[in-house]
Amino acid sequence: MRQSSLVVVAMRLPIDDSVALDGACEWRRSPGGLVSALHPLLRQTPATWVGWAGGSGPAPSLPDVDGVRLHTVPLTRDDLRDHYEGFANATLWPLYHDAVEQPEHHRRWWEAYQRVNQRYAEATAAVAEPGAIVWVQDYHLQLVPGLLRRLRPDLRIGFFLHVPFPPPELFMQLPRRAELLHGMLGADLVGFQRAQAAHNFAQLATKVLGVSATDRRIAVDDRVVRIGAFPVSIDTDELSALSARTEVAERAQRFRRDLGDPERVILSVDRMDYTKGIEQRLTAYSELLASGHIKVRDTVLVQVAVPSRERVGQYQILRDRVEREVGRINGEFGRVGEPAIHYLTQPFDRIELAALYRVADVMAVTPLRDGMNLVAKEYVAARVDDTGALLLSEFAGAAAELSQAYLVNPHDLEGLKQGLLSALQADPADVATRMRGMREHLRRHDIRAWARSYLSALDENGSLLHRLGGTA
Ligand code: ADP
Ligand code: F6P
Repeated sequence: MRQSSLVVVAMRLPIDDSVALDGACEWRRSPGGLVSALHPLLRQTPATWVGWAGGSGPAPSLPDVDGVRLHTVPLTRDDLRDHYEGFANATLWPLYHDAVEQPEHHRRWWEAYQRVNQRYAEATAAVAEPGAIVWVQDYHLQLVPGLLRRLRPDLRIGFFLHVPFPPPELFMQLPRRAELLHGMLGADLVGFQRAQAAHNFAQLATKVLGVSATDRRIAVDDRVVRIGAFPVSIDTDELSALSARTEVAERAQRFRRDLGDPERVILSVDRMDYTKGIEQRLTAYSELLASGHIKVRDTVLVQVAVPSRERVGQYQILRDRVEREVGRINGEFGRVGEPAIHYLTQPFDRIELAALYRVADVMAVTPLRDGMNLVAKEYVAARVDDTGALLLSEFAGAAAELSQAYLVNPHDLEGLKQGLLSALQADPADVATRMRGMREHLRRHDIRAWARSYLSALDENGSLLHRLGGTA
């Protein structure tokens, strides 16, 4: 078994689901933020990625991709139902997102969560060289740091949570809350998107485990676990360069023409998820059409909503509701050849996505709660001429950094409508000042800065990073 000095552990391998079938490897770039975030780092680092290759049954053996070794973890249908669809996405996901949908609790799901986390820990222990850095990602694998420490105490273990970490009053609902906290505390460094999440975690560690904790350090057994905020970002330069390409500009022009050359294009790009505030946004838009503040012949909304987690009941219900509402709005306000909403459920390649960002005069990113929301950052990176208004929810992690966006509370329908109108009618000089400020921020706080700050905090004495060639 080949071993690596850097091992990333995530639910999914960074490849397209089709890879296991046809062997033609491509990085899986969408939809979803995690792969977009780590791809640029690992492309230039000798590393192993441990994860699931898609499908159920025996783990396929995969070739390296862009120099990254792929180590597959097999999952059965039952594992997927009870771990991925169950505990991860019907217990933790809603609970961590302010319980905007009701979290479900089932003992069988918890058993699967333990079983699958154990399998990931064992797979990781097998591919990590002595003293390696292991970076465990996200809520699917919260027990892995603790399990791995037991198997391989020589490793330097990091854990990063890409989603929000909830306040104690919500987390306390979890029947196995102590085990989940213990699992995370197996890491040397626990990273969150926002400082508030680190604060919540420290409070919970004290309350549930009775350990001594500050927002920076937690004393566990004979160790100190460091905690902190490391807001994830994007490859700003790469996306800006892509967006500046002539073919992207031409594609954006074609999009605008195909949309009927409206004065204003509003764009939203989401996974079909109840955390993204899609229904609230549609209601706001529909009321603005009904009141005549927005007219279909001047303004169009392009709503991209890629289906996600389709076997989870709450996601099926959401998709039905969204599609019914889009149909109603188009039936009521559209005209022949002029729909009020262009509704698309397809994945787009990077060029098309950049062109969509370029064509959008207003980008509406209004989740009810979101760990970060990379789409908001991608829009800013793509606006190379400093135009474009970002309408951003206060409840997206990105709002902590992109404070020059037009910030709204998506739970406040009137506020949301007003925010949308303000963004549509904003003075171009104001729009440009805000966009310049946000672009400047993202140039400095890009994906490499994120990886550098996290990995240098994890690897305090710098020896492993030096061995990795100073990548991060
Ligand atoms: P989440 O991680 O909850 O899905 P983010 O906004 O953080 O949300 O990340 C979404 C990622 O998925 C972004 O990198 C975005 O570009 C990508 N994405 C979303 N929708 C599409 C789509 N239709 N086609 C291609 N990529 C998409
Ligand atoms: O941001 C949270 C996250 O789980 C990412 O890790 C992932 O890329 C994205 O949502 C999409 O979710 P899924 O992997 O369930 O399709």
